[in-house]
Amino acid sequence: MTTGLPDTMRSTLRVLFIGDIVGAQAVECVCAMLGDLRDRYRADAVIANAENAWQGKGPSKREADQLFAAGVDVITTGNHVWDNWKSRPLLVQNERVLRPLNYPPGNPGSGMVLVPTPRGMLGVLQVQGRVYLPPIDCPFRAAARAAEQLRREAAVVVVDVHAEATAEKIALGWYLDGQVSAVIGTHTHVQTNDARILPNGTAFVTDVGMTGAFNSVIGMATEVALRRFLYQTAHKYELAEGDWRISGALIEAECDSGRAVAIETFCLQCPDPTAASA
Ligand SMILES: [Fe+2]
Ligand SMILES: [Fe+2]
Repeated sequence: MTTGLPDTMRSTLRVLFIGDIVGAQAVECVCAMLGDLRDRYRADAVIANAENAWQGKGPSKREADQLFAAGVDVITTGNHVWDNWKSRPLLVQNERVLRPLNYPPGNPGSGMVLVPTPRGMLGVLQVQGRVYLPPIDCPFRAAARAAEQLRREAAVVVVDVHAEATAEKIALGWYLDGQVSAVIGTHTHVQTNDARILPNGTAFVTDVGMTGAFNSVIGMATEVALRRFLYQTAHKYELAEGDWRISGALIEAECDSGRAVAIETFCLQCPDPTAASA
């Protein structure tokens, strides 16, 4: 990373962002690795996308509790949060579990939160794209409004843009450039090789990638995914196993201005969680 200064002299806030966690065993991977990752990246805060943490669907209280106990500060989700009924009370009860904020009013939960860190307040917000996803409210205007609100309290604001289309995510990055510290893409489960800092100081990556079994089709058992494509009919979703990895990014931003100074993605091998529990 760019800052070679000792932590006591550092004037930046470092945020670790973990990509879509798929299944309970992937939650175990995060729990096993997060302490080391926090140290390695000298992270001041951790955001984790857990929209697939319970059987490929949104987190239940159990998965959320495990992630918070492991050192996660904010959980973001996405379209699959609505597929697990047990996520809904969690969204209401815990303000640190977010869902995309641009779903129509009346849905449970919130899409933005402020959390204290050792280096000042951090704002986190999540929006969802509309290309190949439900036609919810405008993610651009919703994100801009929420960012403006969060920036009254926090210089550093990180946005999770949960979307299918690369162009939609990139457009949102440009739209928010200079308004937030980072715009981090989630949902496609495939890490893109385009992490960069936009001209006005917003760190951006189109997709931060998946945490789970890479011996799979984006987390799903390969045989099931193939049946779906070959026969064009529904087949019961099964989570994959094998080749466990944790994907994410480290974002570093100035504490006073919120301007990003670095972004770095990673995709690291995890110990096999099935071996640990056997
Ligand atoms: Fe996902
Ligand atoms: Fe998603």
